[in-house]
Amino acid sequence: MRLDKLLSNTGFGSRKEVKQLLKKGAVRVNGETVKDGAAHVDPNADEVTLLGERIIYKEFIYLMMNKPQNVLSATEDLRDRTVIDLLDGESQHFKPFPVGRLDKDTEGFLLLTNDGKLAHNLLSPKKEVPKTYYAHIAGVVTEEDAVQFAEGVTLDDGYFTKPGQLKIIQSASVSEIELTITEGKFHQVKRMFEAVGKKVIYLKRLSMGPLQLDEQLSLGAYRELTNEELAALSVYMPKE
Ligand code: URA
Repeated sequence: MRLDKLLSNTGFGSRKEVKQLLKKGAVRVNGETVKDGAAHVDPNADEVTLLGERIIYKEFIYLMMNKPQNVLSATEDLRDRTVIDLLDGESQHFKPFPVGRLDKDTEGFLLLTNDGKLAHNLLSPKKEVPKTYYAHIAGVVTEEDAVQFAEGVTLDDGYFTKPGQLKIIQSASVSEIELTITEGKFHQVKRMFEAVGKKVIYLKRLSMGPLQLDEQLSLGAYRELTNEELAALSVYMPKE
């Protein structure tokens, strides 16, 4: 790729600012000063330094966020704060977007990336990526509900869901459950409980595919995925 593109993509300023840095002789490629922004570099093989500091080029960003309530899973909104507004400038520079949506009042695991192919695969209905939610339910959740979810339930629009795995943690007037589903229909968890006459009053996503919410992340906090987490996701990353 072009040297000036690499530098501006990595966050060292606009094309114009990068041009000035190059002109000043601040950039070296494999030890040689290069002043021409059009020079071709291989980000994986060439050593590029700026004022002696090695530049690590990365194209993609992968963030795990513990989404808080009252924030939208969107990239922009005229009225409400979005999950992108919670990111620092350096992360925003990569133009990440949320992989799928959590409702405004849902908390928990959200993956943000600019890797469109990965996002596409994780959201593809064909891949049936499991998502596990923890919820508080107004009403006594019973084993009968678990049997119904395991068979599939009919939502308000007539859609018959794929099987969901319901684990009852506590069955009481306000029950505590975990539900794993492999689809992502609009308000799916809330509508599945409506289908059995119950109401979700608190919802948090715990996991998506091989990734689990890092409980060290406070609400609104985020971090880059670890190498282990990225490796676990590689089944959803198509080879070129
Ligand atoms: N199901 C819901 O009802 N809401 C969410 O935010 C996610 C799944």
